[in-house]
Amino acid sequence: MPTNRQIILAQKPNGKLTAESFRLAEGPMPSPGEGEVLVKARYVSLDAANRAWMQGVTYRSALETGAVMAGGSLAEVVESRADHLAPGDLVFAETGWQAYAAVPAKNLVKLPRVEPLTHLLSVYGVTGLTAYFGLLNVGQPQAGETVAVSAAAGAVGSLVGQIAKIKGSRVIGIAGGAAKCAWIRDELGFDEAVDYKAGDVRRQLRGLCPDGIDVYFDNVGGDIFEAALFNMANHGRIVCCGAVSQYDDVPPAHGPRGVPGLIVTKRLRVEGFVVMDFYASRDAALAELRGWVEAGKLKVQEDVIDGLDNLPVALIGLLAGENRGKRMVRVV
Ligand SMILES: NC(=O)c1ccc[n+]([C@@H]2O[C@H](COP(=O)([O-])OP(=O)(O)OC[C@H]3O[C@@H](n4cnc5c(N)ncnc54)[C@H](OP(=O)(O)O)[C@@H]3O)[C@@H](O)[C@H]2O)c1
Repeated sequence: MPTNRQIILAQKPNGKLTAESFRLAEGPMPSPGEGEVLVKARYVSLDAANRAWMQGVTYRSALETGAVMAGGSLAEVVESRADHLAPGDLVFAETGWQAYAAVPAKNLVKLPRVEPLTHLLSVYGVTGLTAYFGLLNVGQPQAGETVAVSAAAGAVGSLVGQIAKIKGSRVIGIAGGAAKCAWIRDELGFDEAVDYKAGDVRRQLRGLCPDGIDVYFDNVGGDIFEAALFNMANHGRIVCCGAVSQYDDVPPAHGPRGVPGLIVTKRLRVEGFVVMDFYASRDAALAELRGWVEAGKLKVQEDVIDGLDNLPVALIGLLAGENRGKRMVRVV
């Protein structure tokens, strides 16, 4: 009888996340109730938001100490007590950081077996849909406009920049380090890259965008948000996707300068979104993403780490910028 390997949130971090916040445990194999399925996690998604959930209530309830660490997985149905799912089916489920989970089947959708399967967590998963809807539905770039995106070498950002190029925008990516900047420019086709670790982002953006930024896709918040805000064109749009610069620390003492003054004088639209808001249009978005991938217009970068036990170090490393593209852990 297999046991269930789990990663428990042993204590909430007070400052930067360390491995001390987690402990490995062996739990009993869960048993699905009526309307539930037992799933085995194949790939656990690593998300910057995993860290934000430790800070308190977000778009989901706060994480509790002593509970299995929360997270989503590409998972395979092992046993089903729901009509629309059968053993062998693939689903995206909120399994938490554990090998097996019994989860309600009501909102689970059977996923197609694409090749490679990992694309179901990256470009055909939450990551791809976040980039797609955030940029196109919220940012609404027009051909010829200038789009800037932060965390540009990460999972969401690397897709945002490429989709903006497909739509005819001029694209500036902001990322940490010369190697990531070279990669987004030379391999992904961004027009320009700004290394935020190499100096004044506000000044670098001003040099690259003399007519201002029309759409800023913000993944990081903080100082980079402020630098972009000061460089926005009149009637620009700021897409608030996330604030990874503020997840792994105590909350900052004050917000960015220029709020709300610059929002008024530049007549900006600043809009937040959560990807689930757009799920009614998910099928059409996935079809378009798939077309771009198959045509070679959208490159998908994945960063796969082996072993459930490595989930804590994988998240700590993601927050430190180790990853390029979508980070996930293969459960072996
Ligand atoms: N609204 C939604 O529905 C939704 C859905 C999914 C994700 N998101 C958000 O999208 C953003 C990207 O998430 P992801 O999962 O795709 O992660 P990711 O971009 O793959 O990884 C996080 C990246 O953030 C960068 N970073 C870390 N600390 C930073 C700092 N202080 N300043 C600037 N950059 C920093 C690092 O790259 P560098 O090496 O460049 O620093 C790191 O690689 C997050 O804010 C997340 O919360 C939102």
